[in-house]
Amino acid sequence: MKKILIGTEKPFAPAAVAQMKELAEGKGYAIELFEKYAEQADFVGAVADCDALIIRSDKATKEVLDVAKNLKIIVRAGAGFDNIDLEAATANGICAMNTPGQNSNAVAELVLGMMVFKARNSYNGKAGTELRGKKIGIHAYGNVGRYVAEVAKGFGMAVYAFDPFVANEKIQADGVTPVSSVEELYATCQYVSLHIPANDKTKNSINFELLNKMPEGAVLVNTARKEVIDEAGIVSLMEARSDFQYISDIAPSNAADIEAKFPGRSFFTPKKMGAQTSEANINAGIAAVNQIIAFFESGDETFRVNK
Ligand code: 3PG
Repeated sequence: MKKILIGTEKPFAPAAVAQMKELAEGKGYAIELFEKYAEQADFVGAVADCDALIIRSDKATKEVLDVAKNLKIIVRAGAGFDNIDLEAATANGICAMNTPGQNSNAVAELVLGMMVFKARNSYNGKAGTELRGKKIGIHAYGNVGRYVAEVAKGFGMAVYAFDPFVANEKIQADGVTPVSSVEELYATCQYVSLHIPANDKTKNSINFELLNKMPEGAVLVNTARKEVIDEAGIVSLMEARSDFQYISDIAPSNAADIEAKFPGRSFFTPKKMGAQTSEANINAGIAAVNQIIAFFESGDETFRVNK
């Protein structure tokens, strides 16, 4: 019997785990949980005998993939797969997949939730501001970006987007205004929501120069990855511009510094919360199990992300 291991430092909701188990066992697979591990070494020690591995932001390093001698498929239950060493997966003959779109609505709801929280001064009783009529720029119009647009429109915001990989007609069809450059997006919008992946091209790309183009009252919302931010640049910008605020679902490495130097001008979740809903966990978890079953039963590699 093939074994699927769910290796998640940050656990799925119990309802998601129950449904994943029912689905896998119903199809004749054994499924085991390895959650809330304290050290990466513990994770490495847990993967030795699994045939399939489901992870979230867990680090599937070369060491993990080398130790997992039976492993044929690893599925990142979520969108970003920058936590998988794709070269090591390929070298070991392991198929790596993600589950695009499955947790996107949860992330989008958090974007607007954090924006309201900040616009209302963290609910401290002082007069805040409203989102209606303000401009929001969506940096990368993928699955999450599209949901952010939908929710932002519900708030009465004017929505703009930049994505060189998505046709303008597709963006316009959603009632969103496409802009022709990343600089134009930042120069136009008081709010910018980041949805770019972390890769060699995007790392440190959100820098002082770009952010300084934003209009008065600028708010940057990051539910993507902390690596895309030039963290020193953010500090310089917050020093230069007392209006600039930074909200992130992934605390930057210099979070303590930012919070101490610029009180009340940032908000960082203590743990990545964007995809942490029961619905998102069920959607992504079930998709991961289904993709594993389809891979073993019929060789289906639809969501493969490595060569
Ligand atoms: C993703 O890439 O899907 C999100 O960042 C969610 O990550 P998580 O599963 O660790 O919450």
